[in-house]
Amino acid sequence: MSHSAMPTSSGPTDETPALEIRGLGKQFPLGGLFSRESVRALHGVDLSLGRGEIVALVGESGSGKSTLARCVARLERPTTGEILLDGVDVLKRDRFQASRAFRAQVQMVFQDPFGSLNPAHRIEHFLRRSLTIHGKTGGSEKETQRRLEELITTVGLQPDMLNSYPHELSGGQRQRVAIARALAVEPEVILADEPTSMLDVSVRIGVLNLMRKLRDDKGISMLYITHDLASARYLADRIAVMFAGEIVEQGESLDLLANPAHPYTQLLVSAVPDPSRAGSYDPVRRAELRQAVMASTSCALEGDPNQACSSEVSVRHQVGDPENRHWVRCHLYRPWAGAGGHALAGEPALPANDTEMKASA
Ligand SMILES: Nc1ncnc2c1ncn2[C@@H]1O[C@H](COP(=O)(O)OP(=O)(O)OP(=O)(O)O)[C@@H](O)[C@H]1O
Ligand SMILES: [Mg+2]
Repeated sequence: MSHSAMPTSSGPTDETPALEIRGLGKQFPLGGLFSRESVRALHGVDLSLGRGEIVALVGESGSGKSTLARCVARLERPTTGEILLDGVDVLKRDRFQASRAFRAQVQMVFQDPFGSLNPAHRIEHFLRRSLTIHGKTGGSEKETQRRLEELITTVGLQPDMLNSYPHELSGGQRQRVAIARALAVEPEVILADEPTSMLDVSVRIGVLNLMRKLRDDKGISMLYITHDLASARYLADRIAVMFAGEIVEQGESLDLLANPAHPYTQLLVSAVPDPSRAGSYDPVRRAELRQAVMASTSCALEGDPNQACSSEVSVRHQVGDPENRHWVRCHLYRPWAGAGGHALAGEPALPANDTEMKASA
């Protein structure tokens, strides 16, 4: 792992998260130059990535997932908040000093493996360029060649593919090249923005397995952005649920999916057909739930925060066992007395507790 940009005196410990985001906000100006209108894409986002941890960021289209990743990758400048890499606030650093080193610590893999590779160049070109830009060529041509071959085999491709052009590769192979290009920089954090959503279902699992292997072998931390809860469960240690620019619930993957506490998470979970639970997908039940969610929380779900929600939404409620690091931000949430349960108060159309939720899901 590259630690070149880490502070030396009071350096990070093993407990220092690889990435920590605090109170991140992003407003995009709307309209003309003098317009005061803006879109609130992110609001008060806190999220951390432990070393070698995979966190999935899920949420519907437009909820702010890509904006979050782009702010961390410094492709976008946040309006408020802090982004700490190895405990160092990257936004406060001088733009010229260490800018490249910080960029190297975080690499982004995009959704579209077709768009990210210029068709005029061979695969070798992309990887060699990454090595060169970040000073990782190793000094001699022989060493550079060795590194190129190592990179391409690390992502499960044959060394002779270095001579191929992007159009000669399948979508899955191209996404592996995009991952190899990110790896060339020896990053500590990879932000993968829907890396498999444009791939055939049959090759998706291979790319997910590759990401997991990179975490296991190299200790790389990953933020995995997806719409697909099933793949989040498969890959991620933790899941963060993003809704209208805020993280409304977070927890260890299995616990969060088994005991979703926020009405929006419940809605997402109810939309996943779960083969392990026969007959689990009930469209009528889901429609009822959606209606209940829309009626009961006029918070961000309606785009018009009501008093109760806007005053309490920032309060985190722990859900169940603290070991699961599961919390929710919702003014309707009430821990269920005696059962350590996950109940939503008062709304008759919502499941009264997690047992009923499971039964009805
Ligand atoms: N450059 C921009 N200028 C103005 N508004 C933007 C810009 N980029 C994003 N937005 C707005 O910010 C909000 C969040 O967008 P973002 O792309 O982060 O969502 P997302 O969760 O990644 O969605 P998807 O799942 O469709 O990729 C949206 O309302 C979007 O229209
Ligand atoms: Mg996006």
